[in-house]
Amino acid sequence: MYLKMMPVIRSIIASACAVLWVTPLSAADSPREHLSLDANWKFHPGDDWPDALVLMNSGTGGGPASERFSDSFWRTVNLPHDWAVELPFDWAADGSHGFHTLGVKYPTNSIAWYRHTFEVPKEDEGRRIWLTFDGVFRDATLWVNGWCVRHHEGGYYPFREDITDVLHYGGKNTIAVRVDATKVEGWFYEGAGIYRHVWLDKTAPVAIAPDGVVVQSEFEKNTPQGNPEIKVEVSLLNSTTNAAKASVNCEIISPAGKLQKKFSGSKNLKRKSQGTVKLESRCSSPVLWTPESPKLYKLVTTVSVADKIVDQKETAFGIRTVGFDTTNGFLLNGKHYELYGTCNHQDHAGVGAAIPDALQEFRVKKLKEFGCNAYRMSHNPPTPELLEVCDRLGMLVMDESRLMGSDSVNLKKWDDQIRRDRNHPSVALWCIANEQFMVQDTPQAASVARTMQDYAKQLDPLRPVSYASPEDDVFRGINSVIEVRGWNYHYGPQMDRYHAAHPTQPNFGSEQASVVGTRGIYENDKERGYVSAYDQVWPGWTTTAESWWSYFAPRRWLSGAFVWTGFDYRGEPTPYWWPCVNSHFGILDTCGFPKDAFYYYQSWWTTNIVLHLAPHWNWPGRQGQEILVQAFSNCKSVELFLNGASLGQQTMKANSKLGWQVKYAPGTLSARGYDDAGKVMAETKVETTGEAAQMQLTPDRKTINADGQDVTVFTVSAVDAQGRVVPVAQNKIHFAVEGRGSIIGVGNGDPSCHEPDVYVPTAPSHNIRVDQWRWELGKIPKSRDSVPEYANDFDDSTWKAISGGGPTIETENTAAIYRAHVMLTEEDLQGAGAQICFGGADDDGWYFVNGQFVGESHDWQAQPMFEAKKYLHVGDNVIAVGVYNSVAQGGLNPNVNVQIVGQVAAAPWARSLFNGLAQVIVQSTRDAGEFKLTASADGLKLATSVVRTQPCVMRPSVP
Ligand code: GAL
Repeated sequence: MYLKMMPVIRSIIASACAVLWVTPLSAADSPREHLSLDANWKFHPGDDWPDALVLMNSGTGGGPASERFSDSFWRTVNLPHDWAVELPFDWAADGSHGFHTLGVKYPTNSIAWYRHTFEVPKEDEGRRIWLTFDGVFRDATLWVNGWCVRHHEGGYYPFREDITDVLHYGGKNTIAVRVDATKVEGWFYEGAGIYRHVWLDKTAPVAIAPDGVVVQSEFEKNTPQGNPEIKVEVSLLNSTTNAAKASVNCEIISPAGKLQKKFSGSKNLKRKSQGTVKLESRCSSPVLWTPESPKLYKLVTTVSVADKIVDQKETAFGIRTVGFDTTNGFLLNGKHYELYGTCNHQDHAGVGAAIPDALQEFRVKKLKEFGCNAYRMSHNPPTPELLEVCDRLGMLVMDESRLMGSDSVNLKKWDDQIRRDRNHPSVALWCIANEQFMVQDTPQAASVARTMQDYAKQLDPLRPVSYASPEDDVFRGINSVIEVRGWNYHYGPQMDRYHAAHPTQPNFGSEQASVVGTRGIYENDKERGYVSAYDQVWPGWTTTAESWWSYFAPRRWLSGAFVWTGFDYRGEPTPYWWPCVNSHFGILDTCGFPKDAFYYYQSWWTTNIVLHLAPHWNWPGRQGQEILVQAFSNCKSVELFLNGASLGQQTMKANSKLGWQVKYAPGTLSARGYDDAGKVMAETKVETTGEAAQMQLTPDRKTINADGQDVTVFTVSAVDAQGRVVPVAQNKIHFAVEGRGSIIGVGNGDPSCHEPDVYVPTAPSHNIRVDQWRWELGKIPKSRDSVPEYANDFDDSTWKAISGGGPTIETENTAAIYRAHVMLTEEDLQGAGAQICFGGADDDGWYFVNGQFVGESHDWQAQPMFEAKKYLHVGDNVIAVGVYNSVAQGGLNPNVNVQIVGQVAAAPWARSLFNGLAQVIVQSTRDAGEFKLTASADGLKLATSVVRTQPCVMRPSVP
């Protein structure tokens, strides 16, 4: 098909000689605005408004879905936000999801509301405005200005709506999202809430469509020789009622920032239509993208109509080839490239699934430290920022679908995922699914797999497609049709047999290892849920790091593999259950602190000279007892010493590690690594430390951006009097931050720790009931205008008392006034606020406190709340409500309370050290300056650390 298009494309290019060339516009001049909508959301946990979704008429959402609802007392949160991490643990909760009190057994914890109010200027009238959620866990109902515009279920897929029609231009706009995280999708921690970014995109009426630029580089024979073709497809949207001729100009900017190529085309767009422009160019002297040298090109696409620029978009891309070969396995840029991969879920200590972009970068860098060059997004599509980090830092990606299916809903998700992610050079491989045990061998699964594979090839002919198969030497169902055979476990001769029997199908390890180990623990402890980190414990279906890797390493055709897992994650506590709440599969723990396996992989996956000893050497009470000492190294031989005396030299076998049984004596355990000639290549030691004497804080970065998004990740440790980290310290540490930063999470990598990761600032509050309502039918203005009956000195003694809670206005189009008194003390009014919560007015209500208007409601289902502290005083207060009943019966719901809210107390951030370490994540504010973190613990000298927050270009955001 592409070849057939060639003459057309050439003629488009030729006819474009007279086009107007442009240089990139500044963000301020661009007709497109891509605005972050992450800041200042209001959050309310609980399903207090089960009837909010009204299906009778449009624009009639009740409770928080209504525009008029007051959320002033809801908590303010910034996105990304995960409320699951804020929930306590319970042994009766779902262990595979980490024992947080979420799910069917905890209905009030499993549903929450988010609201956001923002201005849209009058000048935006005529533009298209799109609202995009990168990911919400899960089942989200979205209202914009009371209009229910979307119901989206999948917790890992983005969703986008064109909200142009329902906005108020030159006024306030409200987004309300009800999130229901009751149902799970995976068998691992998944979080809850708007845990990825939200964006508002504004474009001209003729513009590039969402995800509308595709750029791919292609070499002949998929080998980087000569100059690659750069193929660009631009999808355009004309939302006007006139036809338009759109000119598309493309500029390729080299990794060095030089303009390298210009090409162009055009498209006649009918009224209200979409059209695609396909263009090609060649790029000379291409600089290839690799994980070791991740050079990025930029495509600047500019669209003009009648010589006026209407849109411009920048797209990063890389020039590289990927593929598989049955003999040489995975090929990057035409050559065998071993996949040193890890599978990872998407949660981190402290923050759960709501990972700030800077923390994504921190995590990818941690993986690279031990040589990991490939990241399997298991088992779901990633957040786009993670792909950007992988592009920029150099990390190949296996991009995986959550569910397998060729029905319209699943194919649409697959389509969205591929369209969104296919420009990323890091993405090397699509994966249709993981371990579909029930169906994988069936002809139906083969058909579904074929459909998904063909679909991927249509959208992206240059990337291979795989399936993570948990099967042995089985060539049925999905395995029989999939382009590349993925192996989840089952390493051994069955792989050789399979390879021999199916010589045309390439192979790779989609999931291997699953060895379990707890950082700093060297004995299994079922009671506490810990497992030894000696690479000696593995569930039945898995194996040790050394075994699987020794098998894969000599077999190029196997391509390498993805280890289960790079990081520990919440949920799947294996092999023990409660009190363990985390997995232990990671090479790194949930904070990113290395376990000993880190050095095993570093030895064989990097060219660094590595020498590491395990365990630590603090074993009081174990004098004279034998302790297994392991050396992880890639030196040819290693000699071990205890307090200076040699315990012998051992030769290192490739892809292995060494061990000595050593009679424990406190002091110094040291090692030397030698090359073949006996030259010392590396030295290391572990020492018996003294008691913890002082705290220590080590920031990963000392200067971060003052953008309200960037984070510093602090390692917290306790050192002895000689400054040595005490590897067994378990002290409880308290944290406080001053200045331009706030703590967003704490962790320690302890898989059985039930201390909170997040401390939510709370204010004490109590309710004072407003009782003894009196009422009378009356003629009130249908407005906020005051009448004498609202005033304090009005005598209502002859009015009727409300009895029960039923309707008091029997006839339609009739009004009534309701009055009640409430006594307040000085103490009541000393707190942060006093909110009056009304049970509701059927149909319209105007609310007055001490004769002053505080608010109104026009939704019979709404339960309006108003901040009223400034209208209240010590002593007797009068609350009066005018109600207009227009349909059926109506009146005031007399369930009214004054909610007294105390001062918000500073969150008491704290965390215990686990085997010497803890982690604190501090996020910058938007003001440049600095923040100071203090860590203190009983009996230890405190530590402080100052981080500078520097002025920076802010991510454009909705004001
Ligand atoms: C695999 C599965 C993973 C994880 C792992 C634990 O079979 O694909 O999601 O559960 O087992 O070993």
